[in-house]
Amino acid sequence: MIAILGTLASGSALAQQPVLNVMPLPANVQTGSGQLTIDAKFSLALTGYTEARLDRSAQRFERQLARETGLVFAQEPQATAKSGATKTEAPAATLLIHTAHAGQPIQELGEDESYTLEITAAGAKLNAETPLGTMHGLQTFLQLVAVTPQGFAAPALTIQDKPRFPWRGLMIDSARHFIPMELLKRNLDGMEAVKMNVFHWHLSENQGFRVESKKFPKLHELGSDGLYYSQEEVRELIEYARDRGIRVVPEFDVPGHSTAWFVGYPELASGPGPYEIERRWGIFDPAFDPTSEKTYKFLNELFGEMAKLFPDHFFHVGGDEVNGKEWDANPKIKAFMQANGLKNNEALQSYFNKKLQAIIAKHGKSMVGWDEVLAPDLPHDIVIQSWRGQESLAAAAKQGFRGILSNGYYLDLGWSAARHYAVDPMSGAAATLSPQEQLRILGGESCMWSEYVNAENVDSRIWPRNAAIAERLWSPQNVTDVPSMYARMDAESVRLAWLGLTHKTYYAQMLQRIAGPATPQELAALRTLADVVEPVKDYAREQLATTEPTSATPLHRVVDAVSLESDDARHFGVLVDKYLAASCKDDDVGAELRNELLRWRDNDPALESLAQKTFLVKEVVPVSQDLATLGKIGVAAMDYLILGSQAPAVWKTDQTALLAELAKPKAQLLLVPLSSVQKLVDAAGVGSACASK
Ligand code: ACM
Repeated sequence: MIAILGTLASGSALAQQPVLNVMPLPANVQTGSGQLTIDAKFSLALTGYTEARLDRSAQRFERQLARETGLVFAQEPQATAKSGATKTEAPAATLLIHTAHAGQPIQELGEDESYTLEITAAGAKLNAETPLGTMHGLQTFLQLVAVTPQGFAAPALTIQDKPRFPWRGLMIDSARHFIPMELLKRNLDGMEAVKMNVFHWHLSENQGFRVESKKFPKLHELGSDGLYYSQEEVRELIEYARDRGIRVVPEFDVPGHSTAWFVGYPELASGPGPYEIERRWGIFDPAFDPTSEKTYKFLNELFGEMAKLFPDHFFHVGGDEVNGKEWDANPKIKAFMQANGLKNNEALQSYFNKKLQAIIAKHGKSMVGWDEVLAPDLPHDIVIQSWRGQESLAAAAKQGFRGILSNGYYLDLGWSAARHYAVDPMSGAAATLSPQEQLRILGGESCMWSEYVNAENVDSRIWPRNAAIAERLWSPQNVTDVPSMYARMDAESVRLAWLGLTHKTYYAQMLQRIAGPATPQELAALRTLADVVEPVKDYAREQLATTEPTSATPLHRVVDAVSLESDDARHFGVLVDKYLAASCKDDDVGAELRNELLRWRDNDPALESLAQKTFLVKEVVPVSQDLATLGKIGVAAMDYLILGSQAPAVWKTDQTALLAELAKPKAQLLLVPLSSVQKLVDAAGVGSACASK
């Protein structure tokens, strides 16, 4: 019999898979019988290859286990004598860990990250080739511990696990909005929990140059408003990441996205200047002068400095969204292009990239660029990061380049976890690649662009949805069951909060600010509304703005506070599907749906009363009125369905038209349960199974 603990997941794919509360799901699981009790006597021992990093990892593990269980452990993890020592004796411990050998001194792409974890009622064994596998196995163990009627326990099982892709990244844009160190650190903790292994640090933009340069201090002094990372902080973060099995890839975006560089060094630009730090969002004209030797001398020196600061083998140079306007307007550049047979701006950027690649290679690194840099005559050492479409990933692999996928993984676009989850690096054009070409697809990265995030809400824009992308990149390709993913993501979200991520706690705080002097009833009304709306998707926020947003625009509105994926709306949708699948015969579910719809219908008076007191609520009054209408339509549909009577055709047509009106965003918000209410309206209409139950 399978010992099932934690959140149960359902779904067809899981018919063959054991139900485990682990995310990402391991490659191989054999379930056993019984469970391993976790109590105050729990102990852990490290054997085989040892180093201080593994000791710290074990200490973190115990701290996290103590947080999640509330237990007080009698024994500290057994510390190793000295780095590199091999422990051969096998001490008695609840969790016995064996690491075979050291990892690379600078973590490398494709290092062995595998581990096996065997849990029986008598004890647990974790074996790994390298410290990376050990760290991943510890995270799996943490996820397996759950409360049971007998106490805390982990189920008996054997796991053999390894990642599907070697490059599993999260990119954070620290440039548009500065993201403080402690916040980056807790996101690295989150990455470790879901086994992501690359932190791509977007460090320069039109809006800021965020790293201290000792060679060119005007970059951070004049280009950052004083918001930058010192070199000491960078080293600290890299070490913090290494401790968690995470590589740090820096990005310095050139030749576009570079206005902030030119505040201190206008002579490098293609335009006449002077330049100021950009405050708006979008694509702007300033670009490096690719025809000037000054540019290459400067980039060689700066990237030499940064290549030493960032030990990773990969170095990202951006290369995206160069609009070419400064190049077009500069006669010297036009003449250079003519003299050198460069037919257009793409050819000019290719010329720039070739010289840049040589600089990066000279400093011992491989260059990474966004898909705009893809050109057949570039050295194949370059890695292409595909953001504009999945096709460029396949095109790159066909031409001999390695690639990583980010198209489909942009966290800032507000997609659901399920939508990200459905994007596979090997699908679409990549599915037709030869086995050798497929090997060039290294994995993917989620991207957190920061126009609409700041220190207050950024965790909530990354988590928990990022866990679904982490699973896509780690687990076997056939792990695709969406209900299972959500069940495990919800559980993981709770654990991520134990790590200190604020994706759950920020919400109450932001709503409290918005609500100001609200009565409890008014605050509840704001919460009811906020729980079922989401910000508009993709880039609609820019399109719907009434005044141009800038880096000085406060992010304190309802649209900044609400979740990018509404849990309430998702649960309502699941319930509607369940009700309809049972031909509307489940009266308990019917009553639950109707009650929820009544709550929405009757929410507006308290919300409108609060709107008199705070301007931040005032703008959502029309959304609240729409929610009341939605509730009213839904209640009417439920009344037909519960009674089993058919709604007249004209009723269905009228309600559908009304719902179409409600679909128009207001205050940059979408009323998410709308599509589920439409399903109820459809079901109530003539000819449906429910209408004649
Ligand atoms: C990008 O989103 N411009 C890489």
